[in-house]
Parts: sequence; structure tokens; C-alpha cells
Amino acid sequence: MVARDGSAESESREADVFVIFGITGDLAKVMTFRSLYRLEKRELLQCPIVGVAGPDWTVDQLVERARESIIGTGEQLDDDVFKRFAARLSYVHGDFADAATYQRVKEAIKGAKCPVFYLEIPPFLFATTVKGLAEADLIGTGRVVVEKPFGHDLASARALADELHQYIDESQLYRIDHYLGKMGLEEILYLRFANTMLEPVWNRNYVKCVQITMAESFGVEDRGHFYDPVGALRDVVVNHLMQVVAAAAMEPPAGGDPATLSNAKVALFKATLAADPASYVRGQYEGYRKIDGVAADSTTETYAALQLEIDNWRWSGVPFFIRTGKRLPVTQTEVRLVFERPPRLGLGPWGDRAAEPDQLVVRLDPSTGLRMILEARRAESVQPESITLDMTFAEEGGEGPTPYEVLLHAAMVGQATRFTRQDGVEETWRIMQPLLDKRPDVHSYSPGSWGPAAAAGLAAECGGWQEPWISS
Ligand code: BG6
Repeated sequence: MVARDGSAESESREADVFVIFGITGDLAKVMTFRSLYRLEKRELLQCPIVGVAGPDWTVDQLVERARESIIGTGEQLDDDVFKRFAARLSYVHGDFADAATYQRVKEAIKGAKCPVFYLEIPPFLFATTVKGLAEADLIGTGRVVVEKPFGHDLASARALADELHQYIDESQLYRIDHYLGKMGLEEILYLRFANTMLEPVWNRNYVKCVQITMAESFGVEDRGHFYDPVGALRDVVVNHLMQVVAAAAMEPPAGGDPATLSNAKVALFKATLAADPASYVRGQYEGYRKIDGVAADSTTETYAALQLEIDNWRWSGVPFFIRTGKRLPVTQTEVRLVFERPPRLGLGPWGDRAAEPDQLVVRLDPSTGLRMILEARRAESVQPESITLDMTFAEEGGEGPTPYEVLLHAAMVGQATRFTRQDGVEETWRIMQPLLDKRPDVHSYSPGSWGPAAAAGLAAECGGWQEPWISS
């Protein structure tokens, strides 16, 4: 269908079957079953679920795997809810390159008008699978959801899209970036655009720099085979953290529909200059090379710190500092605005003391929260000092759904705003491409530290990296 602005109009019909390719894999075990179960509990599951994978399993085996997986994630299993969920499951086995597999899928979903196919399989199988579905005439007006990563650089992201677009159009292709399912990301947009107190100061007239920290206290553990060819920049910066940059920096979208929202985001990416390798520090924690699946002489980064420049009216001259790493002191993700330092006070006995810059922090993980750091005159202190105003949303209204619940539900109901669009994906690769082409040497750092010393200087012009807001 073509919309009035000439773009393909996205389908928003609800799925009448949800087909999961790769249901016997690890992601299903740690994430998918639990998310679907929780949707069932919230009465948001409406359709049958068909699992497709290589092993020749019975439905009972699949149900058993689902039960073990859900319990394994720490979820309390409610028998009635699980019974309802299990009744939705069926299973098709087969090789994804074999046309007969798609005939069996056809049989399993017969009559479906809006099937949604979720591919939680390695990306090199995306095109084979979509081709198989298309040749069996299964997609129709349905949708295909693909797991990350979408390409490993600009050229491969383009090539993959070209392959998939032979069989489905862009409005039918939902790319997962689970950060788009995080409540904190939405929180940033609401805070910015729903508050007259905030929007007018959210720009280069008042903000000195923006610091985004995604720290993880755990390491690569048993993911060496996956992680070593990837590294921190591709694993979390080009995708997840660029979504955080977009939420923190984009212009207010004039509507909530997928095209308008994506256009606003892509406009921000287009205004972002290609990253400069001179402002990029890579680190690797000591002990990383001993991990199973990691090359003994690996130079893959487990830590990345970089600076981005957004050259538009709102942000020109305001550095965006981004850092992420494994085996850092805490697990914590936040975006922090550091405002300009006010001039000297001129009042009271502290006339020559310049007040500290205000800061505003939105915490995304481990729980959503908001912190304001302001200067205040407190009766009990000798001179004005910084005070913090904190708000942790979980304490006020309960924690929201997990990102994968949000995303799988969005895929089923056709809410395309929760997924990334090809032009945005290409822009983020364009921004990061110089860092892939000219990788600086990797510095080692001690596990439990804040990364290599070389990264400390990066944010110096903005008072250095701020200690993240550690949740209690
Ligand atoms: C994944 C990465 O995409 O995101 C992991 O592969 C990373 O390495 C994870 O740990 C972080 O997600 P979250 O939701 O825990 O911040």
C-alpha cells in the first residue's frame, strides 16, 4: 500500500500467527520464552506460536524446553498461565535452506493472513530464510523481524538490505535493537518534549557536553566466539548507544507514526559527523584473551570511548562523549547533560566562588531514573553546594515491561516505531566507519577499573568523565 506522502504505508494489522525461526537456540532460552510467557500473563498474546528449527523435536519437547527456560530465568511459573502459553505452541523442524521446510511451515500456519516471522538465527541465514518464505508464498502482507546485528559495516548493511528487499519491502522488515524497547529511552523523549522547563535549555546555548556511559561489571564469559570478531563498537555503540544519542539529541518529531519518528531520528544521524579516530580510545580487560573462543593475540576492544560532533543548530560545538566497557566497576547505563558553568556568584561572602555546573541524568539501567544536580544554599553548609534531586521510577509506579516483551508485542501488533529503519542503520554505520577503518591500538585495563587511563583525557575539556549515578 502506498501512503499519501509516497512512502510505503506500514502494516499495522495484528499477527494471526507468530513463527519463530531458531526456537531451539540460546536467545530463545534466555529471552524469548520468558518474554512470551510474560505477555501471556498480561493477556497480550492473541495468536498461535510456531517454532521452527533444525532438531527433530516433538511439541512436548518444545514445551518442556519452554518450561525449563522460563524457570531458568528466575521467573515464578504460574501453572495456569503456562498451560495457556503451552497450548499455543507447535513445532516444525527442518533445514532453512530446504524448500520442504517452508512447505511444512505453510501447513502449520495455513489460513494465516498476517503471519509474523521472527528470525532469531545467525544473520548469514536471513536472506536464505526470507527467500524460502517468499518462494513458498508465505509472507504476503505479513512481517519479518530480524535479530541484530544488521551488517558488520556500512557495505554489508547495505548488501543485506538489498538482498532482503528482493522479497519484502522496508515496511515489512522489523530490525531489532532491544534498546528501542527500553522505558528509559522513551523517558528521555518525554522529559525533553513534555517539559517547558527542560526543552528550552536542551541545546548548545546551555549544555557544555553530553556524556553517555554504558558500563557492565560482567565480562564476555561464554560468548567469546561471538564477541571476538565483533568488539564493543559493533556490539553496543553503533546500535544501542546511537539510539540513546538519537533520543537525547533529535528534534521533536511532529507525529508519533513510524515515518515521522524515523525521519526525525535519521535527520539527527545525518547531522552527526563521521567519528574521528583521533578521539577514539579502545581498551581490552586483562584476562580477556584467555576466554574460550577468543584469539590468543586478539586486539578486539572490550571497552570503547569516543567523541561525536553533531553539526546542527541545536548541538554544534557540544561534544557527545560515549563510553562503554565490560568488567567495569558497575552495571549502569545513563545519559548525562553537563550544563555550562554559571558566572561568579557575586552575592554573599562567597562572591568569587563560581558555582558548579548543573547536571541532568537519565538512568536507563539497571532501572529507570532521573537525577538533577543543582547548586543550592543550605543553611547548614558554609557555602553553596551541589544537591541532588533523585527519582527512581520503579519505586513510584513499579518497573515496566522488559525490552523484549515490548518488542515482541510491538512486532505482533505492527508497531514499527520500535524497530530501526534502513536509512538510519546506514547512517550509524557511516558515522562509525572511520573507527572501523582506522582502529587505534588497544590498551589493556584491569578488570573492575573504569577502563584504560588513555580514555580519561577524552572528556577533559568538559571536566572529565562524571562518576555515574550508582543505583542503591
Ligand atoms: C547486547 C550485547 O546486544 O546488549 C551485549 O550483545 C550487551 O554484549 C547487551 O551486554 C546489553 O544489553 P542491556 O539491555 O543489558 O543493557
